[in-house]
Amino acid sequence: EPIVAVVPAAGVGARMQADRPKQYLQIAGKTVLQHSVERLLENDRVQAAVVAVSDDDPYFDDIQWQSDKPVYRVSGGCERADSVLSGATYALTFLNAHWVLVHDAARPCLRSADLNLLIEKIVNNTAHVGGILAVPVRDTMKRTTGERVEHTVDREQLWHAQTPQLFPATALTKVLSEGLADGAIITDEASAFEWANQSHIVVEGHADNIKITHPEDLVLAKFYLDQKTQ
Ligand code: CTP
Ligand code: MG
Repeated sequence: EPIVAVVPAAGVGARMQADRPKQYLQIAGKTVLQHSVERLLENDRVQAAVVAVSDDDPYFDDIQWQSDKPVYRVSGGCERADSVLSGATYALTFLNAHWVLVHDAARPCLRSADLNLLIEKIVNNTAHVGGILAVPVRDTMKRTTGERVEHTVDREQLWHAQTPQLFPATALTKVLSEGLADGAIITDEASAFEWANQSHIVVEGHADNIKITHPEDLVLAKFYLDQKTQ
């Protein structure tokens, strides 16, 4: 059952305040986007990548991909969910994808072992539609009203959602398009399945799978990537 990676990369990276979108900043000799996409394509079960970029993106076509597998360019949308829907629709329609593996362009530090674990847990699991990589919350969590603490929230039930997120291509395109049409708040793929009341799971990954967001994250990502190549 073919898995196609869909990588939303149409954001502007406003919080990074760089001279270009953060997915095109260099870390350890490659762009952030290249690290993210190539890590996915290294997995034997991933057959191709579909990258959603903005129509006026001048950087994408110059990338020399270090993989034998195809990398397709599609048009991104206004919100992350629109970009994912564009990529997932392409994967389903033109690549006959059975599974879609969605991964943020801005997460270059994904561990191969965690990607493998996610795929193994989801494709062999008939009880749930799909699942996501996530890490347990570490700090004591407080619910507040303004600055006033109401109570401590049970940490056992709290996770940081990451990507990749793995779902069947038909189900994903359906819940995304219906959810978007309905005005649902869709911040990741899993939230579209929550909206549709379809059961899915977390698979425990690692905290070094950071989403590069602010300038200081580049230093941390370089540190993690340098460790991996040693
Ligand atoms: N993304 C996308 N299409 C959008 C918005 C975001 O494909 N319309 C992608 C980004 O390129 C990124 C991922 O979704 O890979 C996660 O989004 P985020 O970290 O918020 O990136 P940006 O929106 O680019 O950053 P910012 O919010 O700081 O502007
Ligand atoms: Mg954003």
